[in-house]
Amino acid sequence: MDINYIYYDEIDSTNNEIKRQTQKGLPEFTVISAGTQTGGRGRSGHDWQSPKGVSVATSMVLYPKEISIRAVPRLTLIAAVAVAEAIEDLYGLKTAIKWPNDILVSNKKICGILTELSAKDNHVENVVVGIGVNVHNKDFSEDIRHMAISIDQAMEMEGKDTSLVHCKKLTEKIWECFLIHYKAFLKTEDLTEILDFYNNRLINSNRQVKVLDPKGAYEAVAKEMLPTGELLVEVGDELRKIDSGEVSVRGIYGYV
Ligand code: BTN
Repeated sequence: MDINYIYYDEIDSTNNEIKRQTQKGLPEFTVISAGTQTGGRGRSGHDWQSPKGVSVATSMVLYPKEISIRAVPRLTLIAAVAVAEAIEDLYGLKTAIKWPNDILVSNKKICGILTELSAKDNHVENVVVGIGVNVHNKDFSEDIRHMAISIDQAMEMEGKDTSLVHCKKLTEKIWECFLIHYKAFLKTEDLTEILDFYNNRLINSNRQVKVLDPKGAYEAVAKEMLPTGELLVEVGDELRKIDSGEVSVRGIYGYV
């Protein structure tokens, strides 16, 4: 599983670019990264800001043709673990995970992940896993300032030396970690191998959350992530499993 890295100073979106290049034939595990994105995309149709030279914007293409479509959202959870692992190992920061795939440091979002599937006749054609990490950002726009943080900011809060923080090194570490867990995932199609790491960092655990179900929002107490990637929640006396592909959760008093 050799990784082939391609870098652009500027691109609309690394997810878009890798999808375009995939149509012309791109080897599996190719990574496209950019110094800045002019049209970075987030989950649920939101924008994702990648200001010039201060953040990681990186996407990998996979061709897991043998896995079922319903297992694809689990790749996002594997990516979340890879990012958390990389940040902890490289910088000694404590991370938390907000289900399904936001990585937090000091209760603020440091990374977002957007996984996109291309399927034909109910079979997986390719999957693009896109990761954005706030690295050297000194500030954020008004709308996200209360809930966003960069690695440099988190390091400074702990009096750590930020000269060791490099986007390229972080990118490589993330994908190295990702492929280790991806290999394990391909054998079982589930998340058993990362389950303890994930649940030990799950910030929602035993907290009151608002489940944003398209069929109607409701309040619940989050318990744990299951090997399928679903979040187990308690609604009164009833336990429910919620699916990351369809539903997201919010803390009832704010972002977490
Ligand atoms: C989120 O909404 O939290 C997901 C953000 C994902 C952003 C990354 S940056 C690299 C890749 N390219 C994109 O356009 N989006 C993803």
